[in-house]
Amino acid sequence: MTGDHYFTAEPATTAHPREVEFTVAGRDYTLTSSGGVFSATRLDPGTAVLLRKAELPSAGTTGDLLDIGCGFGPITCVLATCAPSATVWAVDVNERARQLTAANAARIDAAERVRVAAPDDLPADVTFAQIWSNPPIRIGKEELHQLLSRWLPRLAPDGVAWLVVARHLGGDSLHRWLVDSGWQVERHSSQKGFRVLRVTR
Ligand SMILES: C[S@@+](CC[C@H](N)C(=O)[O-])C[C@H]1O[C@@H](n2cnc3c(N)ncnc32)[C@H](O)[C@@H]1O
Repeated sequence: MTGDHYFTAEPATTAHPREVEFTVAGRDYTLTSSGGVFSATRLDPGTAVLLRKAELPSAGTTGDLLDIGCGFGPITCVLATCAPSATVWAVDVNERARQLTAANAARIDAAERVRVAAPDDLPADVTFAQIWSNPPIRIGKEELHQLLSRWLPRLAPDGVAWLVVARHLGGDSLHRWLVDSGWQVERHSSQKGFRVLRVTR
């Protein structure tokens, strides 16, 4: 055993690649996950609620989209599939997660439209039409607030961010914190104990 968390930068846990199958908006996906990343064996239930309830980008969506904390890349791959004219940026601190996302993007023939990067490597001048995240609640409240304070200001003026947070992990207090930080926040939907928040300027 190792002391890895899913947000460990370079997991020591054995990879053990696994196929994860799921369906979003009538399309079937088969992606690879592995040990040492978040949700190694299945689509996370919170991510499933986000992808079921939020408004996925239309086929005509252009510009840059961001997936904060991409894990093995399920959100990134759905965004890249729904919006083939957009560029999807996938950031994660976990190197194995980044490798899996890049491989999964290639698997869905979107390698040239998906840019996978460590957070510090994303160009500073890119703004995002949409930001998506199942954020890493377990890094702690202060760190989570810092993470969102880093990326949400890079939303384009008419951009929209979609977040999913379990109510029992602080979904409602995160909602309040976002409002107190000056964001317009709508609880777009709620399912299976998860809050889907729609955040705009
Ligand atoms: C709840 S998981 C979601 C993973 C993936 N999006 C999914 O839906 O399966 C959150 C992810 O955030 C990553 N993470 C943790 N701290 C981060 C940070 N400071 N910046 C970017 N990503 C981070 C973790 O490594 C993890 O992959």
